[in-house]
Amino acid sequence: METSLHKNIFQYLQAELNTPKIKATIILGSGLGTFADELKKIKSIPTSRIPNYPHSTVVGHAGEISLCEYYGELFLVFKGRIHAYEGYSLEKIIIPAVLSHKFNSDYLIITNAAGGINENFKPGDLMIIEDVFYLHYKKRFKSLADFPQSPSSINRKLNDFIFELGSKINLELKRGIYGYSLGPSYETPAEIEFLKRAGCDAVGMSTIPEIIYSSKVGMKSIGISCITNLAAGISKTKLSHTEVTETANLVKNNFSLLLKNIIKN
Ligand code: HPA
Repeated sequence: METSLHKNIFQYLQAELNTPKIKATIILGSGLGTFADELKKIKSIPTSRIPNYPHSTVVGHAGEISLCEYYGELFLVFKGRIHAYEGYSLEKIIIPAVLSHKFNSDYLIITNAAGGINENFKPGDLMIIEDVFYLHYKKRFKSLADFPQSPSSINRKLNDFIFELGSKINLELKRGIYGYSLGPSYETPAEIEFLKRAGCDAVGMSTIPEIIYSSKVGMKSIGISCITNLAAGISKTKLSHTEVTETANLVKNNFSLLLKNIIKN
């Protein structure tokens, strides 16, 4: 599902960035945007300058695309993403994933903030996404209808590799299933109980459209969730976006260390 909107945004970026080959594209989720500032930036473009690019309405999503260099390879880094709960269509939500594909990225690395459902998770944990659950929203993604039944863009061997990489750098990573919640409000305890019984380890409001798109076009994807809070009903306190961005900020050193090692390796 590539549209004229995607083509126009790609053409604009290609003219601005003038880059032959991107190694990987990285989408930085809520509160995780500062990672982009740790790489050598070759050029940054505020998304507000790109004609028809959807504006980010969420605190902690800066809306910037950077071409960065690390260990001699080029990376495209999205600070902030486009969410369904902001009222944007699927065509718009998948823009970063489509651009990743059009720039011939070998990998799409998708990060997000998520609520922890698994009892062994605590705020600050980093979870490798093993599979996704979005049964109750399948109809919403009808235009990606011919995607495979499982998110084959997630590669178990690649995940094993990242898990082992984590232990080499003394990061105890979690692995689990990411459940989709459309938002914008956080879930009710009953909804979390439903996702828990369905086998979900974490819940969030993003990432799945990008993963489905990657599967469809045969691009390898890696999903990393930063567990910023315990999900509704599991947490004893009221959930807030401030808690999400604060935890993401606390964990940013570990998060950067992991991402740098992934892209280096
Ligand atoms: N639910 C949904 N999305 C989230 C959460 C949550 O608890 N935390 C961060 N993003």
